[in-house]
This record gives sequence, C-alpha cells and structure tokens, in this order.
Amino acid sequence: MSNDNRSAAIAARLRQQIADMAPGAKLPGVRELSKQYQASAATVSGALAELSALGLVRAEPGRGTFVANRERLAEPDYSWQSQALGRVRVDADRASRLGGYGTPEHLPLSWGYLAPELVPGEELQRIGARAAKNSRAWTMTPPAGSPDLRRVVAAEYRADPGDVLIVSGGQQGLVFAMRTLAEPGATLITESPSYPGAILAAQSAGLNIASVPSDEHGIIIERLADELDRSKARLIYMQPSYANPTGTVLARERRAQVIELAAQHGAFIIEDDWARHLGFEGPAPAPLFIDDPHGHVVTVMTLSKPISPGLRLGAIIARGPAGERLHASRAADDLCVAPLVQEIAHSLLTSSAWPRHVKRLRGELTTRRDALISTLYSSLPEARVTRVPKGGIHLWVKLSHGTDTRQFCAAAYGAGVLVGDGRHFFVDEPPAPFLRFSFGAATEAQIAEGVRRIAQLSEAG
Ligand SMILES: Cc1ncc(COP(=O)(O)O)c(C=O)c1O
Repeated sequence: MSNDNRSAAIAARLRQQIADMAPGAKLPGVRELSKQYQASAATVSGALAELSALGLVRAEPGRGTFVANRERLAEPDYSWQSQALGRVRVDADRASRLGGYGTPEHLPLSWGYLAPELVPGEELQRIGARAAKNSRAWTMTPPAGSPDLRRVVAAEYRADPGDVLIVSGGQQGLVFAMRTLAEPGATLITESPSYPGAILAAQSAGLNIASVPSDEHGIIIERLADELDRSKARLIYMQPSYANPTGTVLARERRAQVIELAAQHGAFIIEDDWARHLGFEGPAPAPLFIDDPHGHVVTVMTLSKPISPGLRLGAIIARGPAGERLHASRAADDLCVAPLVQEIAHSLLTSSAWPRHVKRLRGELTTRRDALISTLYSSLPEARVTRVPKGGIHLWVKLSHGTDTRQFCAAAYGAGVLVGDGRHFFVDEPPAPFLRFSFGAATEAQIAEGVRRIAQLSEAG
C-alpha cells in the first residue's frame, strides 16, 4: 500500500476511535500511534493532518492533538445532490476495477499493464532526466501535440502527421473520440465481450450501447450488419488486434467486411489499437486505419501498454472533418499533454532502446503466457482457456456452468489475488461464467502462487 493509502486507512480507523471519545479528549501521541498502527511517524502525521483538515481533531503545538467540538461536526446532508445530478451515467462498480485496484500485496493475476520489471525503467529515468533539462519540456506544445512525436506516430499508421492528435493515454482518447464523433443519446456498437473502459467511456459520452458478439475470428459480421440496421448506430468500437479480454484477432476477410459495412452505413469505427507492440509471434496485424482511405476508421493508440502506465500518453489518428473536429474540441478540453512526457516518449521511440525493449517484451510475455496457461491446466481443471493469445496480455477463461464469478473473484481477492470478473466485460448479461487473467503484470512465481491460492479456494468451496 502506498503511504497515502496507508495514511487514509489509519485516518479511517482513528475516525472510529475518536467517535467514542469526548470532545476535548487528548489523542495518544504520534509515537504511540505509530506503534499501535505499525506505521511510520510520517504516515501517522499524515492521517492526523487529514482528520484535522476535516475538523475532526485539533492540533495544539507542543500540547498534542485533541478531539474537536462535535457541534461543528453535524453530519452533512448531500441528498439534494442526487436529485440535482439526475440519472447516474457511469457505472461506478465497473469503474472501480479500472486502473489500479487492490493493494500492492495482492498478486496481480488480472491487470492491464506491465509488471515493473518489464517497464523500461532505466531508459525512462535516463531519458526523463535529460528531457527535463531541455527548456522545451517547460513550454507548451500546440494542442495537437509535439510535431516531432506526431511524425513518429504518423509513420506507424501511414498517416499524415496533421491527422495525429496526442492525448493522455488510450482511455482519454476513447472518451474524446466517442464524445466528438457522436451526439449524446446516439448508439455505439461494441463487440462483446469488450474492454470495460470503453463501456465507461461510452457511458460518460452519454451514448447508448448495443453489443454484438464476437467469436474466435472477431466481431460476427452478420450480427454487426443486423445491429447497424436495427439501431441506426453510426459508431462502432472494436479492438482488431489481441482484443482485451479474449485475445482475438479480427480475421483478414472480416477486416474488409467491417470497413465495407461502415461505408454502407456511413459509420465510424473506433479502432482501439492498444496492443500494437505486444504481438509475440511476429508483429501485430496492420492497423485497420491503413486499409481505409475514406476516414471511417479513427484509431486510438497508447504507449501506456508497451512502456508504462504512468507515462499517460496516447494518440488519436483521424482523417477528414472528423479529425478537424477532434482537433478543435481538443483545444477546448485540454490545452496540451505535458510537453515533458511528450519529449520522453519521442526520445524513447526514436532510440535504439525501443526495438530492444519490444523484442525483450515478446520473449517475456510469451514465457509468462505459457506459465499461466500450464499452471491453470494443472491446478484448476474446471477453468477452460478459451484461446491461446498470440499477443496482448490477457487470457479469457471459462468456468463451469453455474459458477458465480462475483463470489469467485471476491474470494480470490480475500486470498490476496486479483482476478477479473468476466461480468464487467459484457454490457448486458454474460452468456457464461468467465474470468479474465493477465500475464503481463505478474512474475512466473506470482502466477504460480496466485493460481495455487485460487485452486485451494476452489477445493475448499
Ligand atoms: C483495450 C484497452 N484500451 C485502452 C486502454 C486504456 O489505457 P491507457 O489509458 O492506460 O492508455 C486499456 C487499458 O486497460 C485497454 O485495456
């Protein structure tokens, strides 16, 4: 747990403790509290500062900390807010699973980013220190991003650098694209199952969501055609390469069919190309973007996945008036991504360390994928791996009929293991009990220990 989280946890417990104390009563000193909570003095002081800011305690220099007068602490009434805010848009339960969840002690058997030892940390530190010394890092770039970085991204997508817009990671790119390419109340079609963050992005853009099932070759074309007819949707979200959570790659013949359907219906495809650098058996298939000259495909890419989640850097690549609108609303939304971050990304992507890093990742991820699959086979026979992915970081696993995945994941969490509940990857009811495992965030030893703990739970349950 980080110091901040630890301070917050201690503050919560102190809050309970002082609820039973009289106003004016003195709290134990920092040294004693440190012993009681087995935390450093700085962490305890952080917790006390939090309570003091809330007016729950009063610090008197040289004398100690005292319970504040309760009259000032009447419970606030926020009930009016829910009425004023209207209907909840973004599903908080799904949102609570995105980004970091769990504690550092949890074994990350489901997490969408690389383990610390797979991040190119030394290069980032070296390049970051150098970039910070360059005055360019402390000015502004144009809202669309640093021209140098846009050129590098454009080359990968055979795009014009003018069609590239730098954003703070893929998630921002998705929200941004969904908000700009459709009016609130319009319908977005997503392949199903799909990335929960895309479902949240659509919710936050005020879109209705219709899902179309995918099979081992990606989204099912006939069902997509039906849904486009039925819903009149003009926006389709998909991950053609190594989809999260299934690892599916959109089959070659379906690529052309999807673009053809988008053209027939005058629709946009938001191509989430998050796993571009995470193919193990050769490079990922080319982005859909390069097969579509007419601007139906708008691609969102991210560097959080192959480099580091903390980099928070991605791009949207879009042609035509859609690109122009995205550029205009970019400036309205956020003036630019921190130039320092853009400078670091550009330096890394153009250095000799980059191809070395991508090559190393391929080997490491293959080893961890194989370790996860073989451990699951040997220790959890009721888990059926639906597909051996050739890229990405996730594994989609089906459990026996009738398994309650909510309970399964809660029990795993209690045993210190993070596993993804398949329910979050469906807009509506899941057709079967699924779990999402990831092999990018855990070491082989963590994978073995995590699966062992889950298997033990299954035996006990
Ligand atoms: C499929 C997919 N798209 C986009 C993202 C967004 O990633 P970021 O905002 O860190 O770039 C994620 C992160 O989990 C993802 O799994």
